[in-house]
Amino acid sequence: MSALTRRELLRSGVVVSVSSLAASSFVSRAHALLAEYPDAASGEALSAIAPREQLLMDFGWKFQFGHGSDPARDLGFGSGQGDFAKSGEFKFSTEKFDDSKWRALNLPHDWAVELPFVRDESLQSHGYKPLGRSYPETSVGWYRRSFDIPESDRGRRLVLEFDGAFRDALVFVNGYFLGRNNNGYAPFGFDFSDFANYGGKNYVVVRMDASFGDGWFYEGAGIYRHVWLTKTDALHLGHWDSYVRTAVKGNATTLNLGTVVRNEGTSAETCLVLWQILDAEGKTVATADSTPQPIAADFSASFNGSAKLLNPALWSPEAPNLYSAIVTVESAGKARDAERVSFGVRDIKWDAGKGFFLNGKSVKIKGTCNHHDHAGVGAALPDRLQWFRLAVLKDMGGNAVRTSHNMPTPEWVEACDRMGMMMMCETRLMSSNPAGLAQLETMIKRYRNSPSIIIWSMGNEEFAMMPQPQGVRVIDKMIERSHELDPTRLCTAAVPQAFDTRFPEQLDVMGFNYNLKVIDAWHKAHPKTPSVGSETASTISTRGIYQTDKLRNWLSAYDLNHTSWSELAEEWWKFYAAREWLPGGFAWTGFDYRGEPTPYGWPSINSQFGIVDMCGFPKDNFYYYKAWWGREPMLHLFPHWNWEQREGEIISVWVHSNLDEVELFLNGASQGSQKVERLTHLEWKVKYEPGVIEARGSKDGKVVLTEKRETTGKVESIVLSADRNEIDANGEDVAVIRVEGRDKDGRLVPTADNGISFKVTGEGALIGMGNGDPNCQESDKPSADHNLRSLFNGLAQVILQANKNPGTIVVEAYTEPWPGPKLPSTTLTITTRKVDLRPAL
Ligand code: GAL
Repeated sequence: MSALTRRELLRSGVVVSVSSLAASSFVSRAHALLAEYPDAASGEALSAIAPREQLLMDFGWKFQFGHGSDPARDLGFGSGQGDFAKSGEFKFSTEKFDDSKWRALNLPHDWAVELPFVRDESLQSHGYKPLGRSYPETSVGWYRRSFDIPESDRGRRLVLEFDGAFRDALVFVNGYFLGRNNNGYAPFGFDFSDFANYGGKNYVVVRMDASFGDGWFYEGAGIYRHVWLTKTDALHLGHWDSYVRTAVKGNATTLNLGTVVRNEGTSAETCLVLWQILDAEGKTVATADSTPQPIAADFSASFNGSAKLLNPALWSPEAPNLYSAIVTVESAGKARDAERVSFGVRDIKWDAGKGFFLNGKSVKIKGTCNHHDHAGVGAALPDRLQWFRLAVLKDMGGNAVRTSHNMPTPEWVEACDRMGMMMMCETRLMSSNPAGLAQLETMIKRYRNSPSIIIWSMGNEEFAMMPQPQGVRVIDKMIERSHELDPTRLCTAAVPQAFDTRFPEQLDVMGFNYNLKVIDAWHKAHPKTPSVGSETASTISTRGIYQTDKLRNWLSAYDLNHTSWSELAEEWWKFYAAREWLPGGFAWTGFDYRGEPTPYGWPSINSQFGIVDMCGFPKDNFYYYKAWWGREPMLHLFPHWNWEQREGEIISVWVHSNLDEVELFLNGASQGSQKVERLTHLEWKVKYEPGVIEARGSKDGKVVLTEKRETTGKVESIVLSADRNEIDANGEDVAVIRVEGRDKDGRLVPTADNGISFKVTGEGALIGMGNGDPNCQESDKPSADHNLRSLFNGLAQVILQANKNPGTIVVEAYTEPWPGPKLPSTTLTITTRKVDLRPAL
């Protein structure tokens, strides 16, 4: 082996072989327990195969608020300090406890989004929701449910697993304390086999305390991701220990396969691991097996294998080809545990001088940073919404996302793998303390098989730590640990300052947050270090608004507004596009998010940084990116043409287009033709008169696209349409309904703000509403008597969720009891089809 360190080898593009990493085949029990994650797998990417069972536990919970300071209102918890004196006297998780008055609900659940907005500036960054130690009544929540464990499960390992919950969780089963988890994003789980009631009812109780936050943005509160019950043999695969590392060389790809088997039985077992590699059609394309090994009781062992794929279908954003490996532990010819690991074959390279390469081709990273909440549902997104959101970003021409600033939900990563979106995957805590390293380890083990992930981020903007010697030690340790767990990916961190300190020099790939002015000089001084724009833009705009109005907290949607530290869309992208060595970056943000209501604050309750609003409705910058990131010919004209009482005033008319030339017409009269300059918008100053503005875009001398904005009449009808008219009757799937106010000629009225009521009947429910207005304080949630939401600049969104009975869901929209003109009511019917339900308890 050369004298180079693992880090140097990785940076030079030499992937450290698996065999050299698996130096010790025995992983000590203490080490396996370090991360505190028992054996379970969740989501599709790592899924259970018989004899393993993995059951969704999202349904049939009861919920009640506790209290952050008054034990009498917190199930008596914390009175007299004796709660944890005994490990098995937590009566609220036994049969005798009466939860009949608690509210029934299903997960995922975010109680923060249900709370009213409170004007308290200490709540600003989290979106003015009453959470924190000053709001004890609404910061603690208790969840409870029962479930059966059959007698036949005796001897198996039973694990309760949470994909993530906000925030401090205390988990109890059958009167026993199982454990705690005190961060909001990393998954956690507990083996409760010793506490189970076999052949009878079991009771789980989770106390969530969202008094402390993890971030400076809306984070939600409660069990906002899935919960699973996983059952395995006592001899089983380690938790997220299975990996498939691919090394592409010419047309042959080597698969380096590894896993860990744990023996939690009472006697030694000899076993081997088998890998069956399947292509997307489920055809076996390769197999491998390990050498058999004995594993003493209460010990673990590593197993390795390798296989080859000839001419594999490579993964890329354009062709997200996936494979899977069925990993099986066999002993005496019998399968004892198995799981499916989804992976992709692709080759990535970060080059200091030439940028980023995917499968040997130079690719610009056209990325967005995103937080995890959506209109209507807060942080508790049904899986389908992850796909919905990603589709919006893909439609814009985006090919990458950054999971700022925390470990993502599994379904977001899975959507990226399956839909084709590259990812910078970021951990929440930049720290080498035990919690920081445990979160990092979990993130990497959980997601290292996902082909979408092209780089790990060690965190964001640790202003105080980065310039200090401590910062260097911390980042060094984190990167070392990351490389150990995943020798196939490089690491970065999002750096906003301290550019001339040693901190950025520790990174495999330098991550620039903003600061266009320092980037060239830094690169010159560090010509061997690749770079990426970890965070850029922070352009601010309100959808459908074309005049900044400080009194109304509105920012014009022309690409004109940014904060003191940030950039316009056109500025940052021109800068990155012009430099071959800069592989692109991640704009802050794809979607608007709750919290950080920059620059105005109250009554704004969400950010205005998004390229699309909270619902995913595009602002005009969306089309700037679509023009220059997408592949299709593009022409977008704005603003709208409803400028009542502004006749004769000059209106700025912009076009985003990637065609050669655009001619603008006002009521049929040409306002002149302009040549498109690459990466630049076009602008005309037009004297307003009602009617029609039209842009005609030509390519090679021929008009290929036209777009019009017409002065509309007032709203005369409500029009409903769905992203899908047929969804699964599985208790989880959602239809996303677009609500529009239209005039008598069927044209969207771009200024409409009518109040709309919604009534939902049939086999589903309304679970959330939004309209993308950063200043709208109407409830996102339906209430017992009426569900109200006003249109914002013509649009609103309603999210319907199916129950498990196939049939139809009917949503009716009408204008009572809102003031203003009455519009005819309208309905939309969504069909819910019978599907196989995923295994659930
Ligand atoms: C960045 C930060 C983001 C967000 C953004 C707003 O500095 O990393 O989380 O706060 O500013 O512009």
